[in-house]
Amino acid sequence: MHLDFGTGDGTYVQRRARLEPSTLVIGVDASAEGLREPSRKAAAKPARGGLANALFGVLPLERAPGELAGLVDSLTVLLPWGSLLRAVALPEADALARLRGLCKPGAALHIVFGYGPGDPLAVQALPGPAAEARRAELVQAYAAAGFAVAARPRSRAEVGELPTTWAKKLAFSSHERQFVALVGCAQ
Ligand SMILES: C[S@@+](CC[C@H](N)C(=O)[O-])C[C@H]1O[C@@H](n2cnc3c(N)ncnc32)[C@H](O)[C@@H]1O
Repeated sequence: MHLDFGTGDGTYVQRRARLEPSTLVIGVDASAEGLREPSRKAAAKPARGGLANALFGVLPLERAPGELAGLVDSLTVLLPWGSLLRAVALPEADALARLRGLCKPGAALHIVFGYGPGDPLAVQALPGPAAEARRAELVQAYAAAGFAVAARPRSRAEVGELPTTWAKKLAFSSHERQFVALVGCAQ
């Protein structure tokens, strides 16, 4: 099962579910608003674009892992904002423990986030995530939470290639931001 945390309008889930028909792909978000349309579409008949293997639900990180504890084979957190951005970028140990609690041992992890001077103070005050020393700190903090990851800077163009709605918005945004990708697995 693949879980996309902070899925927004569910674009990533729809694409991945279409590409991997034998994988159950679940998208969760703190906000129900963006989930209504993709849920309706997924529930349609296959001939009308329905996706039997895509599901959506409301799950704020603060309430995770909940019923998904230990069920996830692969986890994405793509271009989060707000408390989810803080959680993965600071990072917050209790939040990482919640993400780890979702995962089976060996589950794949792919997190991409970015921030810059225009973003909320909690992350704005941090050194840029692409800086080598900052990436080393992230790797250590994730290791302490039970994730073995490599941290690589991502260019705006690389971010724009991610199949999500915000990837396209951020790729064309004029705000100054650095991006990093954390790729690895749960230990
Ligand atoms: C910038 S959008 C990105 C959405 C999608 N991943 C994309 O790339 O298009 C950030 C998403 O994170 C969600 N989010 C923020 N804080 C959250 C939290 N604590 N728990 C779950 N989702 C959260 C927001 O509701 C929003 O949908």
